[in-house]
Amino acid sequence: MTELRKQIGSAAKSVRKHSKIQPSIGIILGTGLNGLAAQIDSDARVSYEDIPHFPKATVHTHAGELILGRLGGKDVIALSGRLHAYEGYTLQQVTFPVRVAKALGIRALIVSNAAGGLNPQFAAGDLMVITDHINFMGDNPLIGPNDDELGPRFPDMSEPYSREMVALAESVAMKKGIKLQRGVYLACPGPSLETRAEYRFMRFLGADAVGMSTVPEVIVAVHSGLKVLGFSAITDECSPDALKPVNIEKIIAIANRIEPRLTEIVAACVERMKI
Ligand code: HPA
Repeated sequence: MTELRKQIGSAAKSVRKHSKIQPSIGIILGTGLNGLAAQIDSDARVSYEDIPHFPKATVHTHAGELILGRLGGKDVIALSGRLHAYEGYTLQQVTFPVRVAKALGIRALIVSNAAGGLNPQFAAGDLMVITDHINFMGDNPLIGPNDDELGPRFPDMSEPYSREMVALAESVAMKKGIKLQRGVYLACPGPSLETRAEYRFMRFLGADAVGMSTVPEVIVAVHSGLKVLGFSAITDECSPDALKPVNIEKIIAIANRIEPRLTEIVAACVERMKI
């Protein structure tokens, strides 16, 4: 057995000691999007620090916690406090919680993030369902020996975001009267934000939103055979010709404004997911 599989096994075993919940859906809560955690009827909250092999918190970050509970009539596991590559974690570390959630039984993963809007039709405060992504991180969590028990050496990426789930999100949003944009998410390593020239280039590449996360977790989710549904909270407008300075406080404030709509859509999608 590979070292990675052993580590996943022992982390999953330790989480199981805290709760009998058998999650079918995993949810990653993005920056400023933690409000969804309050909607989960939680059975257990486990600090990342208490789980073997979970990446240790750096001085500057709060490592976060796993929440096991019920949402929309289903058993779920939420990862509150995502790890980012720019904090110094390897992409294998960033994606380890997804591996553990899979070992605990999830069959679908819902991911969320705060992102800059590149599509000129998008405004800060919009919510977008992710239809596809561009990996611009210059790295990949699957680099290294492949464990065939975890997934294939060359995972197919023709539909990383389940079309069925995108359609479900769009139909839920329509019924609820919530405006939902759709588009391609591009992931950069960060932590510096991007220049005007880079935004122009990314738009030219076909991206609608840009951020510093999500893609590693989605690659590992696809490798693990999970269905993925993703959302970006558009927190600022990355218009190369009319760019205004942003800071993390502003980004979090706008994400917090979007969060109730995201929570409403995610809860309804979880309820209706046939998984
Ligand atoms: N880039 C630009 N704007 C953003 C980002 C980013 O990575 N994340 C949230 N808003």
